[in-house]
Amino acid sequence: MAKILIRNLNNKVVASKDNSKTILNIIHENQIDWMHACGAKGRCTTCKLIVHEGLENLSPVNDLEQKFADLGKLKPNERLACQATLQADISVSVAEQNKFPHIEYSE
Ligand code: FES
Repeated sequence: MAKILIRNLNNKVVASKDNSKTILNIIHENQIDWMHACGAKGRCTTCKLIVHEGLENLSPVNDLEQKFADLGKLKPNERLACQATLQADISVSVAEQNKFPHIEYSE
C-alpha cells in the first residue's frame, strides 16, 4: 500500500492500494480539501504538489505537466496531483499559494 505523507498538514498520512488513482483522488477520498480549480483537467496547476521524497515513485510526467514545466510553472520537484499516480510512498507539501484559508497548515 502506497502512502502519501503531507508534511504541512501536520504530517497527515493517507494511503491507497489502487495505484491507478491520481494523488488528488486519494487525497479527496480521505476528506482532505485540496485545491483543484480546473476540475482536475491538468489546466491550472492549483493542485500542485511539492514533492520532498519519492519523486521516483510517481508516474512519469505526462504531456500536460510537461507543458507547465516548459513554461516554468512546475519545478523539477513539483507535480500535478490531478495527473500523477503513485507506485510507492511519497512525502509532499501543499504549495504556499494554494493553501486554503479555512485550513490550519503546520508550516
Ligand atoms: S486541478 Fe487543475 S491542474 Fe490539477
